Amino acid sequence: MELTKVIAKRKSVRAYKPDAVSEETLNAILAAGCAAPVGMAKYDTLHFTVIENKEILGRISNTIKQMMKREGDAIYAAPTLVIISSKEPMAPGIDYTNAACIAENMMLTATDANVGSVLIWGPAMAIEADSSLKEAIAIPEGYKPLFSVAFGYPAKDDDKEKELKVKITMNVVK
Ligand SMILES: Cc1cc2nc3c(=O)[nH]c(=O)nc-3n(C[C@H](O)[C@H](O)[C@H](O)COP(=O)(O)O)c2cc1C
Repeated sequence: MELTKVIAKRKSVRAYKPDAVSEETLNAILAAGCAAPVGMAKYDTLHFTVIENKEILGRISNTIKQMMKREGDAIYAAPTLVIISSKEPMAPGIDYTNAACIAENMMLTATDANVGSVLIWGPAMAIEADSSLKEAIAIPEGYKPLFSVAFGYPAKDDDKEKELKVKITMNVVK
């Protein structure tokens, strides 16, 4: 797909089919994440945890539901969740900026492969709050989970494309 079309088609998907994302597509998504810009090219300060285990996904969802006092599947029944973790950054914010660049590359690549995605904040909070969950998903020592991106095949077809226009306030200095 043409890049602008992929950008216009990407949207947060909040209902998924149970089917796992194919290994080939998932690898392409993760590899695209690793092609993202990262401060001083310190890729070794980052870590992906790819969770496809239904029991663990259920535990993450339940912990978020308890913490946020909310109903429904907190990860939208997505079959795959990628947690992005980072070591302590050299300066505040670099960790989240790195992870955001990675996440967008991954979500655009997913869109191009007709795989849905959504960036979800709750899982990282749930993992930090529940040490047994952190242990179960084996995030390496010294890494902090920042946020996650869920992937899966959308439950409903939605070919709508966004209008690409500037909708954030701006000022131009010439
Ligand atoms: C930093 C950040 C945090 C987000 N957290 C969540 C979240 O916890 N749950 C969720 O369903 N969507 C989350 N989103 C998705 C946004 O709600 C979504 O991107 C926004 O509404 C625009 O819609 P679109 O992605 O369909 O274009 C998050 C997005 C970002 C960038």
